[in-house]
Amino acid sequence: MTSASLWCRIGVCLSGAVALICAVGVDFGEGKDASYFALASHQRDALSPLPTSPRLNAAKVELGKNLFYDPILSKRQMLSCASCHNLRTGGTVPLKRTIGYDGRMHQFNASTIFNVGNNYRLGWRGKFTSLAAQNENVLLDQNLMANDWQTLLPRLAADNGYRAWFKAIYGKSPDREGVLDALVVFQRSLVTPNAPFDRFLEGEVDAISPKQKRGYEIFTSVGCVSCHQGSNIGGNMFQIFGVFAPPETASVATPSTDVSRWALKTANENQEVFRVPSLRNVEVTAPYFHDGRAASLSEAVAVMGKSQLGRELAANDIDAIVEFLKSLTGDYNGERLKAPSVEDRR
Ligand code: HEC
Ligand code: HEC
Repeated sequence: MTSASLWCRIGVCLSGAVALICAVGVDFGEGKDASYFALASHQRDALSPLPTSPRLNAAKVELGKNLFYDPILSKRQMLSCASCHNLRTGGTVPLKRTIGYDGRMHQFNASTIFNVGNNYRLGWRGKFTSLAAQNENVLLDQNLMANDWQTLLPRLAADNGYRAWFKAIYGKSPDREGVLDALVVFQRSLVTPNAPFDRFLEGEVDAISPKQKRGYEIFTSVGCVSCHQGSNIGGNMFQIFGVFAPPETASVATPSTDVSRWALKTANENQEVFRVPSLRNVEVTAPYFHDGRAASLSEAVAVMGKSQLGRELAANDIDAIVEFLKSLTGDYNGERLKAPSVEDRR
């Protein structure tokens, strides 16, 4: 039985993706000489290019962008969304876990904010079904922005710029709906088109290198694609982390006293069930996994092989998969996303 077909049985799919997974449970292991182009078209339904950028109200995007970069959103006006979601790099920060408002370490690594509009659920635990609900939680969470609407709205209204801006767009003073709407519309603009792999799927056969094609073939044949799929190459189902074996990299100890509100109250909480993350731009979003336990992409891929597929991947296969993953890096504002520099790491 192939790993992929195994997944037809035990996948915990919440997005109606069961049929799709079974449909893509094809073992290419024996078909090494199959034309790569045939592979691309065969797998088109499993992995698809990013949808074309949504048409958005430009004024709302601009307002949302200003809010995103403005520490005014946090209670003591010290943290902005951009403090943990750096848009000059991978839409996250190179920390295992972020430090919140009260100086305490969060339970989770900050997810990239790029392409969030295409994720079916939000957060590592997939707790949120809408960006607005997730964003409100960030604003009000005592460990994050620690704000409340009674403080934030008068503050925005007292700012001449924001007052006029909200009036022009929403016809009223800043209110909860307007703040969330502007933030959400801005986040929908954070798409990263033009990844070499998307161009390959669109028919540009040489957009990815021979090594990346080999990596893509392995990604498909060993069954990574049964979980990381769709236009975000992930983001559309829940899975256990450690299906075949407990993931055993140097785990970041999560103190049992960590009572962060990010510890979600779901029935699955003790089962280590996570939303399968998107692999778009994964090249530039280290460290990896929900607690940032894997420093490098090759380490993360090796762990996935063992814990999710029950197989020890050969070093050169890991290498090829990592090269393939690099072909998922797209452009933001016309520029290829890049890894954080030393300056960004400060
Ligand atoms: C102090 C750091 C910090 C700040 C400030 C912060 N975030 Fe986050 N963000 C995180 C962490 C950590 C996660 C992962 C949390 C989880 O999965 O439960 C996250 C996750 C997200 C996600 C979910 C992404 C996905 O694909 O699941 C979105 C959307 C998001 N943040 C938007 C925002 C917005 C908008 C703001 C400003 C209002 C903001 N964040 C401010 C740390 C931060
Ligand atoms: C059974 C489902 C499943 C399979 C199969 C699977 N993954 Fe994953 N993958 C996950 C889940 C769930 C996570 C999140 C784990 C965590 O951090 O808790 C993840 C995380 C990752 C990450 C880290 C992403 C990040 O932003 O931190 C990478 C890279 C990755 N997978 C690559 C792969 C590769 C390559 C394969 C095939 C060798 C693979 N995965 C197979 C479910 C799967």
